[in-house]
Amino acid sequence: MRQLGFELFMQQQIETLRSEFAQDIAKVAATHDIEALKVKYLGKKGPLQNLMKFLKEVPAEQRPAAGKWINDLKEEISARLEASETTLRATEESAKLSAEKIDITLPGRNRFPGRKHIITQTLDEMIDIFASMGFSVQVGPDIDTDYYNFEALNFAPDHPARDMQDTFYVAKDVLLRTHTSNIQVRVMEMQKPPIRIIAPGHAYRNETITARSHVFFNQIEGLYIDKGVTFADLFATMDEFLSKLFKRQVETRFRPSYFPFVEPGMEVDLRCLTCGGSGCNLCKQTGWLEIMGAGMVHPEVLKNGGIDPEIYSGYAWGMGVERVILLRNGVKDIRTFTDNDMRFLEQFPGV
Ligand code: PHE
Repeated sequence: MRQLGFELFMQQQIETLRSEFAQDIAKVAATHDIEALKVKYLGKKGPLQNLMKFLKEVPAEQRPAAGKWINDLKEEISARLEASETTLRATEESAKLSAEKIDITLPGRNRFPGRKHIITQTLDEMIDIFASMGFSVQVGPDIDTDYYNFEALNFAPDHPARDMQDTFYVAKDVLLRTHTSNIQVRVMEMQKPPIRIIAPGHAYRNETITARSHVFFNQIEGLYIDKGVTFADLFATMDEFLSKLFKRQVETRFRPSYFPFVEPGMEVDLRCLTCGGSGCNLCKQTGWLEIMGAGMVHPEVLKNGGIDPEIYSGYAWGMGVERVILLRNGVKDIRTFTDNDMRFLEQFPGV
């Protein structure tokens, strides 16, 4: 009777514990709940431990069987806790990973790398062409003396040709250069022939700003001095340069014109790129486009540069950069170059 009572008591205790555990584990939602259950059921002060203590009261012949019941339950509980911990840990891990995930579908932020202004792009292209023909680049000052801009270039002080180029004066005899030709005598003073240079840069004229003329513009000057340089050299160089610049075989025309520093002087015209000569708006029905001034360097100018005109001869030319862009890129208004309107500038992606 006592034995039976003991067995029943043990079985009841174990079954109660088992169903209590079943309820507890059903409620588990996270790994920390498992920890709590481990402490509760398997800890030193837990119910299983209490049952172990109670074993001492059990008669010796019953003890192994009773001990086994307790151990079986203990193993069952810890196996179920382990299993559920493994599943929960995996779920928690993947929840954590997806929370930390970087959303690479977000569109990137657009960057606007700078680009060269169309004037610089065009100048670079011109420089490359002349460099391939053996010319090197020189630069002259934007603010210069009357001497280099006018006098050394054979403009007498009261010469009416000075009126052709309305000048911004900074001080008496100091001015904003009206053309890149101010480089000519400076270079002659610095170098002995053969001289073969180009000089890109700004030029300034005190004129009314319109779609076609501006107080500020860009030119590229060329100067070639050596023994026996002739008109034929000038023609050939200009033909080759212009064909490379406009990327087609162009037809040129040299028209007599007057510049005090060249003799003879001329304007170079290009057969109209749009109509091919039959007459259109671009060429104002003339069939020709004015592209640059040029000529053979005047003997007086050579003398001013310390070069003997009996031994040497040379040619020079000056060309407006904006004008080339008007013709090549169909820009209508010269003022847009300095407006800094991104919509205009972005049309010329460049490099
Ligand atoms: N300097 C002249 C101008 O600005 C152009 C030119 C340069 C003409 C060299 C002849 C020779 O119009």
